[in-house]
Amino acid sequence: MAQHRAVPKTTVPTIRSRKGGPPLVMITDYDAPGGRIADEAGVDVILVGDSLGMVVLGYDDTLQVTLEDMVHHVGAVARSRPQALLVADLPWLTYHLSAEETVRNAAALIRAGAQAVKLEGGRPRLAMVEALVRAEIPVMGHLGLTPQSIHVMGGYRVQGQQADGATALVEDARALADAGCFAVVLEGVPAEVARLVTEAVPVPTIGIGAGPWCDGQVLVFHDVLGLEDRVLPRFVRRYASLKADAVAAVEAFAADVRSGRFPSAAESYHLADDVAASLGLSRTESRPA
Ligand code: KIV
Repeated sequence: MAQHRAVPKTTVPTIRSRKGGPPLVMITDYDAPGGRIADEAGVDVILVGDSLGMVVLGYDDTLQVTLEDMVHHVGAVARSRPQALLVADLPWLTYHLSAEETVRNAAALIRAGAQAVKLEGGRPRLAMVEALVRAEIPVMGHLGLTPQSIHVMGGYRVQGQQADGATALVEDARALADAGCFAVVLEGVPAEVARLVTEAVPVPTIGIGAGPWCDGQVLVFHDVLGLEDRVLPRFVRRYASLKADAVAAVEAFAADVRSGRFPSAAESYHLADDVAASLGLSRTESRPA
């Protein structure tokens, strides 16, 4: 914890300046304990992603996540006071209808504690990116397999596998950077395409399922820790098995309760001997072994 306050708060310009430098580390998070874990581990960026919907809220896709859900969870992470840059996803349909509504919705996330917002899509979103930048709200782009487009893509499919798709990704990334995005997430694209994009733009690219040539990497908190064990996409590396550990721990608790091993005398509060005696209780009755 001491180390926590010794290092200055990471800012948008810090992340922007890391283009081509040591790889950036971003991880998603959705609550205060997770924020403390990510921050003590020294990540550069914490993303309150709309993966919230699937990872924490139990929905089948990210389209169910509302601005109110995001504000609630951004506030929780922000209260862990991370030194990492805190970025929040604009959920589906909060940045599609008008520039004014986009800025208002993004402002709600900033007021909840985010330092920047992330939105999905390329050239069709430029007007919204420009409006946010004019309102002094830093924007991270997100291209490739954009989960909010699941119905248009026909599922979670790797994007940019043909030359025209790859070229479009490069053009989209250039346009986002020109419009003022300080970084761009590349999700679910061939490593070679992510390399082309990374070399084409002056801002850091942060990859997930986009190979090793991005300026940084992001993974979902619950995937890294093995809290999510139902699916294991190719691009996930699991660094712990906390779901299995948690099930074993709760099983052990249940067994102790059922066998009477929990709670012990030391885990209980007790009457003073004279009070117990005045109630007619023997020492044994008032103190379980
Ligand atoms: O919502 C999310 O978790 C994301 C990351 C996968 C980049 O957008």
